[in-house]
Amino acid sequence: MRIIAGSARGVRLAEVPTGVRPTGDRVRESAFNALGQFFDGGEVLDLYAGTGALGIEALSRGCERAVFVERDRRAISTIRENLRRAGLEDRAEVVRGEARRVLESRVSNVYNSRFRLIFADPPYRIAPDELEGVFECLGPALTPGGRAVIETGASSSATPSGTAGIQKIQKGASRRYGDTVVTIFERSEPTMTVAVCPGSFDPITVGHLDVIRRASRVFDHLVVAVGSNREKNPRLDAHARARLIERVTGDLPNVSVEVMEGLLVEFARQQGARVIVKGLRAVSDFDAEFEQAQLNQTLDPEVETMFIMSSAEHSFLSSSAIREIAGLGGDVEKFVPGSILDTVREVYSKAGRGAGPRAGVGDQIETNNKR
Ligand code: PNS
Repeated sequence: MRIIAGSARGVRLAEVPTGVRPTGDRVRESAFNALGQFFDGGEVLDLYAGTGALGIEALSRGCERAVFVERDRRAISTIRENLRRAGLEDRAEVVRGEARRVLESRVSNVYNSRFRLIFADPPYRIAPDELEGVFECLGPALTPGGRAVIETGASSSATPSGTAGIQKIQKGASRRYGDTVVTIFERSEPTMTVAVCPGSFDPITVGHLDVIRRASRVFDHLVVAVGSNREKNPRLDAHARARLIERVTGDLPNVSVEVMEGLLVEFARQQGARVIVKGLRAVSDFDAEFEQAQLNQTLDPEVETMFIMSSAEHSFLSSSAIREIAGLGGDVEKFVPGSILDTVREVYSKAGRGAGPRAGVGDQIETNNKR
């Protein structure tokens, strides 16, 4: 067996260990022809990797990185040897384990929406429910527009199209080669542009609301993400802050509010959002926002940060100023939306000071999931 095309073209692969059924040259060539010009960067996942021929072929043709999953110890050695022969070791990770276990343990975090291309060539005698479990993880692991190439035995009863997790993937061509059926699935591009608008919102101001309103006109759906930010010792816990935001965005049908734990880019990915939208008030905001945008871009290059310039009348306004004014007994009427004014007065006024994070206020506000 040789690598067919790309930087490692012609490299002869190591002997196939006994018990491993490699994808035959004809099937491999046809599958890659069917994928076409699909190898401009991106990560590939080679499940039941065997000799690693499929993933190595993808690397050779231009995929950036590859993860190989295989449980057989001898096959693992063969994959490493083949990567060495192809000079591609530094772009590969070889994971020893059961495909289903590896996928299930990683799909909701590291593997989620990560792979541009997935190969799955399970043994033909694998139990159908085991295979269904693997198929269910493929949809979430693919990037939008990504493809999964699945090989099954012609008589296999497990059908990738019949599983819930793969529903997002549209079925493409299915071809039979002897007793092998190769099917290519594509995860559909999202038809909606979802954006995340993150913040502490302690409390939400009319300036925040202006940015949310304007962003809701630009994106199909806007998720307001309320950071738990416990280290900032907010007066209200994140759920209570979220309920106040729900109250003031009730008239915006395409805005929903969620509490965010953990990393913003991770949250954005979970929400299917490719945009982080933030308000920018003045030059003084720029340094911190620039730093955060660059950190987030480094953490996930697929997520783009965009800014909405605050309206002139709100450029001086901040949650911290409201907390201070209310705490000193000043009137915050002009700074917070009218429907939550009483609550803000109650919580952030002198009387509320020193109370630390509080839940409860706003508990009566009904949640309204608009997605
Ligand atoms: O209104 P704030 O206080 O400026 O909002 C801060 C927020 C919630 C946007 C920020 O703390 C955040 O993004 N938290 C998530 C944690 C994270 O992803 N950190 C790394 C990138 S800065």
